[in-house]
Amino acid sequence: MKLAAGYKAFWEAAHKNYPQQMSSDGLLDQWGMFEAIKNVVNADHSDRFAKPSERDWMISIYPWTFDKRSTKVGALAKTYKGLIFLKTPFDIALYPRLIWELQPRTILELGSYQGGSALWFADNMSVLCELTGEVHSFDLHTECIHDDARKHPLISFHQVDLSDVNNFDEDLLKTLPHPWLVIDDAHVKIFSTFSYLNNFLVSGDYYVIEDNPVRANKTIIDGFELIERSGFLIDTYYTDSFGANLTCAPNAWLRKS
Ligand SMILES: C[S@@+](CC[C@H](N)C(=O)[O-])C[C@H]1O[C@@H](n2cnc3c(N)ncnc32)[C@H](O)[C@@H]1O
Repeated sequence: MKLAAGYKAFWEAAHKNYPQQMSSDGLLDQWGMFEAIKNVVNADHSDRFAKPSERDWMISIYPWTFDKRSTKVGALAKTYKGLIFLKTPFDIALYPRLIWELQPRTILELGSYQGGSALWFADNMSVLCELTGEVHSFDLHTECIHDDARKHPLISFHQVDLSDVNNFDEDLLKTLPHPWLVIDDAHVKIFSTFSYLNNFLVSGDYYVIEDNPVRANKTIIDGFELIERSGFLIDTYYTDSFGANLTCAPNAWLRKS
């Protein structure tokens, strides 16, 4: 409901006030807008959640291949407030919708890099969430994190070697408020990390695994069987918003049932 509320309001106001403009050649249906509106309205009602075993692994385009198209003006340059920010344009459009819909109290980011993405998540949270949230970002190479990210009041950076889940601070994880949005962008032992963090996740929490699922090899397929057995479903609203799996996290916008 949350995602489609604005679309529904527009649909009703336009029908009520400008019915003559609602035909296919009307001024309010420019370039097939209605088709897009219908899709968004349906997003809240349809079979939006899918089991990993029911999905194929085809990807429309892997968004990172856009890197290979050079743009001198840096139209695809990955920065946020001057810091390195390694997200694709599609995912930059998707995460704010999920943050708005989920209203996470905690974002756990695995892989901080320069802190640009944590800064972006924290800024998005502060604008989109009604209750104040926290970003906890984990990385081994924390000396690379920029002061502009460190000084954000909602962000905590943690130096952790993610190759061993025993390095997580269990006491911290137990206290972090839900809903959680976990983003694995570290690419280290992704399924053992998932299994470990799942002990702390509750129904409704989200877990996004960036990049690794693109390969769809045996390790990934086996890992997604584990994810399915653990009661997670793929939220196709996010994976398929711009075309089937047009995201750096194909089949990997996961919601705990
Ligand atoms: C793709 S970058 C993260 C990008 C960042 N989230 C962004 O969107 O801008 C991956 C990060 O994983 C970290 N990393 C790699 N191996 C790690 C390990 N064993 N433990 C913790 N962090 C690790 C690297 O230091 C690097 O900062």
